[in-house]
Amino acid sequence: MLVLGLETSCDETAAALVHDGRHVRASVIASQAHLHAEYGGVVPELASRAHLERLTPTIRAALDHAAVTLDHVDAVAVTARPGLIGPLLVGVAAAKALAWSLNRPLVGVHHVHAHLAAGLLDPPPDRHEPDLFPALGLVVSGGHTALYRLDSPHAPALLGSTIDDALGEAYDKVATMLGLPYPGGPHLDRLASHPDARPDRYDLPISRLAAGSLDLSLSGLKTAALYALRGVPDRAGRFPRTLADVPDTDRRDLAAAFQRAAVAAIMLKLRRAFDAHPGVRALFVGGGVAANSRLRAQLPALTDSLGVRLILPPMKYCLDNAAMIAALGHDLLATGLRHGLELSPSPTGAD
Ligand code: KG4
Ligand code: ZN
Repeated sequence: MLVLGLETSCDETAAALVHDGRHVRASVIASQAHLHAEYGGVVPELASRAHLERLTPTIRAALDHAAVTLDHVDAVAVTARPGLIGPLLVGVAAAKALAWSLNRPLVGVHHVHAHLAAGLLDPPPDRHEPDLFPALGLVVSGGHTALYRLDSPHAPALLGSTIDDALGEAYDKVATMLGLPYPGGPHLDRLASHPDARPDRYDLPISRLAAGSLDLSLSGLKTAALYALRGVPDRAGRFPRTLADVPDTDRRDLAAAFQRAAVAAIMLKLRRAFDAHPGVRALFVGGGVAANSRLRAQLPALTDSLGVRLILPPMKYCLDNAAMIAALGHDLLATGLRHGLELSPSPTGAD
């Protein structure tokens, strides 16, 4: 079964063709990051217009790459939630038009759940998928930070999520404070990884929340980083220091301290989740922050110590893409789920 996946929930226009939900025949991504860089964040109206311009050529490119035509497409899967509503509408309208005109089934997919399905793409020949479940799932991206239990690939149950900033968002905001270009996560990671960086110079808080909580809070860490960098503001909100007053070595040490505290918070929640869910066999990780060097270094140590498989997809499937949408769409179709032309996108993750 060949599924066409479409993804337009944020600032990536993506189309993919995936065979039997696992084997990627084509995955094309048109990034708009440069359009939004000068604003320091995604501008929804610009994103909607850019999706409109790019979606048809992106679908064509995916068909060409897979050397198939629309007639070969057996079903259409599209991100229906969560995301920016204008961008979502563009993808959902296109998916409905395609499914209707081709007379093929349509399925709307939850973007964050699809980040977990990314780990199932292009499986190694020796993988026996049922051995991976039950599993835990961690999504760490610019828009989402959430922990799940997965009893099957298509049924994630939410265990906890951030109550304020997503991990990537916190990275990007602290990177902006440090004068790094947007999106700053990878730049902050590089600065923090400098061999002479001394994270111990700053004592930043590690989010714990209530005993046993699997939620996460990152805004306190972000504010602590700001105060460590610029000093505590006076009652008028003026900071004692500007960024120009902060020596490069202090910026580097602060980046390292932030990275240490942020990754420690994630690892703490993972340990709690494993304690609360004995018997899980794998940890699925997805989302753009899965590129982070410190997180990638620490995850295998944790899963090895627990005897759990780590499913960390290659970067091209960690970042937003449509192959993961087609993968989850395939599994949902296999359960009998179909959406009609009344499918409407939602900005939130809830049904
Ligand atoms: O999954 P993604 O492409 O988009 C969303 O669905 O949000 O994730 C993008 C996020 C950005 O916040 C970016 O700064 C962050 O992933 N990111 C990183 C790294 N690489 C990308 N954050 C920390 N360290 C990295 N190496
Ligand atoms: Zn995403």
